[in-house]
Amino acid sequence: MLIRKLVPPEPPEPIIYVNGEFLPKSQAKISVLDHGLMYGDGCFEAWCGRNGFIFQLDAHLDRLFKSMHSLRLNLRVERQELRESIIETVRRNSLIDFYIKALITRGISPEPVIDPRKCETPSIIIYARPTQFEVSPEKKGSGIRIKVLSIRRVPHDSLDPQIKSLNYLNIVLGKMEAWSSGYDEAVMLDHLGYISECPGFNIVGISGDRLFTPSHGILVGITRNSVMEMASHMELTVEQGFYSVYDFAEADEVMMTNTVAGVVPVVSIDGLTIGNGKPGERTKKFQEIYLGWLEEGKHGTQVFPQAWK
Ligand SMILES: Cc1ncc(COP(=O)(O)O)c(C=O)c1O
Repeated sequence: MLIRKLVPPEPPEPIIYVNGEFLPKSQAKISVLDHGLMYGDGCFEAWCGRNGFIFQLDAHLDRLFKSMHSLRLNLRVERQELRESIIETVRRNSLIDFYIKALITRGISPEPVIDPRKCETPSIIIYARPTQFEVSPEKKGSGIRIKVLSIRRVPHDSLDPQIKSLNYLNIVLGKMEAWSSGYDEAVMLDHLGYISECPGFNIVGISGDRLFTPSHGILVGITRNSVMEMASHMELTVEQGFYSVYDFAEADEVMMTNTVAGVVPVVSIDGLTIGNGKPGERTKKFQEIYLGWLEEGKHGTQVFPQAWK
């Protein structure tokens, strides 16, 4: 149990980590010549936390370092130091239930032109803020309606979606199409017409005792992996492969997963009702187990060990 009175009081202004300094939000700034701003040249990672525990800190760090490696981005800060700075950002903001975002950019360019060779030192930014809803509790209870987007997910031979890059225009435009068409969220196809992922979420289906999820053309989600881990304790076989819209429309249950929203039931795809049009029992079970894991600190790193009794 977390003893809240043993957690220090919140600072008057949120604290943001920028290039080695913990600064009040009003003073946290980066250069207008940063390659991350000019070209989306960089990568990021996001964590959620509950009861003072950062969920899957190291799994997300692994993904961040793989993203940097693929982008040929040489951080010059040791992994342990970055890990400590992430924990310290939460600690300095005295957050108990929170969201963290770490951004690494190529760094500052001497001129406003594309030349990554001249960006000498990568920029590092770490934000932490209280938990907010990406999908409302009502929608997480009743389930959401998703559209099959006309915009395809960027193919791996252009910019591999396994890299969590700062270049998210494909996702941003996808979300805009979904919302302007009156849907709650959406799903994207790959260039062959198979389901890839939702803008900012992975997609998972259940048919009978089989849990299935796309294997390719996706950001390999940590929440998706957690759901697969849970499924192995729920007498569900886990399958990854290539699936069409039909496979999800005809599934018994469908859910979307990500770090911020957790497990979100999907009740229709492109107007086709999934199952009985209500969140499935097993999806609800995943929601419950996932919340339990966050609260009890499974795969968690406690930010305030002195307050956890
Ligand atoms: C494109 C994309 N796919 C999937 C996910 C889900 O990944 P995770 O469960 O690690 O948050 C995200 C998360 O933000 C994402 O941006």
